[in-house]
Amino acid sequence: MHAASLPAVVPAPSSIEAGSGAPFRLSETTSLAGDADATAALAAIVLARTGLSLGAAEGAADVELRVTPGGAPESYRIDVAEASVVVTGAHAAGLFYGVQTLGQLIARDGAGWSLPAVSIDDAPRFAYRGLMLDVARHFHPVEAVKGCIDRAASLKMNALHLHLTDDQAWRIQLDSRPELVERASAASVGGDPGGFYTKDDYRDIVRYAASRHMIVVPEIDMPGHTHAVGLAYPELAEEPVVGDHILETLAEYGGDAPVAGVPYDGMAVGFSSLKIHEEATYDFVADVFGELTAMTPGPYLHFGGDESLSTSAADFDEFVTRVSAIIADLGKTPVAWHEAGAAKDIADTTIGQYWGFVRPQGDSGEKARAFVDNGGGLILSPADAIYLDMKYPSGPALGLTWADGPTSVERAYSWEPSDVVPGVDEAAILGIEAALWTETVCTAADIDTMAFPRIAAAAEAGWSPATGDSELRTWASFRERVGALGPLWTAMGIGFHPSDEIPWAAE
Ligand code: ACM
Repeated sequence: MHAASLPAVVPAPSSIEAGSGAPFRLSETTSLAGDADATAALAAIVLARTGLSLGAAEGAADVELRVTPGGAPESYRIDVAEASVVVTGAHAAGLFYGVQTLGQLIARDGAGWSLPAVSIDDAPRFAYRGLMLDVARHFHPVEAVKGCIDRAASLKMNALHLHLTDDQAWRIQLDSRPELVERASAASVGGDPGGFYTKDDYRDIVRYAASRHMIVVPEIDMPGHTHAVGLAYPELAEEPVVGDHILETLAEYGGDAPVAGVPYDGMAVGFSSLKIHEEATYDFVADVFGELTAMTPGPYLHFGGDESLSTSAADFDEFVTRVSAIIADLGKTPVAWHEAGAAKDIADTTIGQYWGFVRPQGDSGEKARAFVDNGGGLILSPADAIYLDMKYPSGPALGLTWADGPTSVERAYSWEPSDVVPGVDEAAILGIEAALWTETVCTAADIDTMAFPRIAAAAEAGWSPATGDSELRTWASFRERVGALGPLWTAMGIGFHPSDEIPWAAE
């Protein structure tokens, strides 16, 4: 069967075969049975896509959704025939992903709706498939975050990384350090309103994510990106260092230079640092990560470590070594941006997050590889491919261009994870994460426009077989399959960018 005649599924499944029989017709009398969460999830997708309200049956039903233990983590199988649909998952997560795939298979059929006869056997390539949302540069309320969770989960992503703090603001309430949100949460870039998550908000986000089989990875960025900490605790923060790099940013984007004790709402980076040689700094770090540990069931705590341009290399190494040990001692796995790979004694479980280019520049590849040599692993977020805040070549005015932008959908797609960091085996790659920074991204609609369709390219890099191992893993196939999802995305309320690189289906 030629790839072009297969039903469109994104991310591409590991195995898909078209059946020879007639499609399964969906109607008001189609009955669902099996796992309660999965039937509810499928009924919601069918209702949004078709307007049909499907009911659950007690005994045998037309559509069966069952957990049948034994398969690989997150795996599922779908068999659609004229008279029946069976979806099985090795665990609840696999079944949930099977339901997402089934939703993508729904097609208009004359006046009605159907699912094509097909067999799919599917499991992810990488264990970690993430989306990062920066809620520091612009605050995004709980409902917007839940929208991101729904959208990412529909593409089989399983981690939401929240960039909770930066120079502009601190967005998470902590009992041990209440001054942080009291004094440092009001700003956003450009003078826009700020905000923060209460502990209950955060728990609500964590619960909602879990219901979509996603973990939350909280990031507290340090030792740089910490101007806001100084609004609450001046004794922990160095004076801003306003060097040439900062002056260039001010010249390009406008805004005032950072001043100690004054909220910062510009876009410059690299001027702030925590005090590395104050023991009070490490008491602060222990309080913050201790409280986050208690609120975060997922295994990871991210401590940033990027762009600490005003911290000396020796101080940086000392700091990230100590912070990684604090997090490891709390029983969590530390995660850091790849710069922290420069520190030789970093906790050996630390996961590096690579944000260099698809072809590493400078020493970014070596720093990333150091995490693996040290015993940890890597998450790949190549900025010139899957930084979702880069401008499109044509389209909305939103976005930045520093990562060799503008970034087309084709470029977001056309890279192979195992080829990025030299000397790193596939087994050491934990997974992939698309990142959405929000200097220019202010609303839920902005998030949709910048993320979709490029987030689907990241999802495919994380879930699907390697390029070369599947006839579906080509740009030509991807653009057709993504185009076929347009009507589903519209039905789900996703305001995607109608990129002219994609042949969007009408219905
Ligand atoms: C980053 O983009 N500074 C991680």
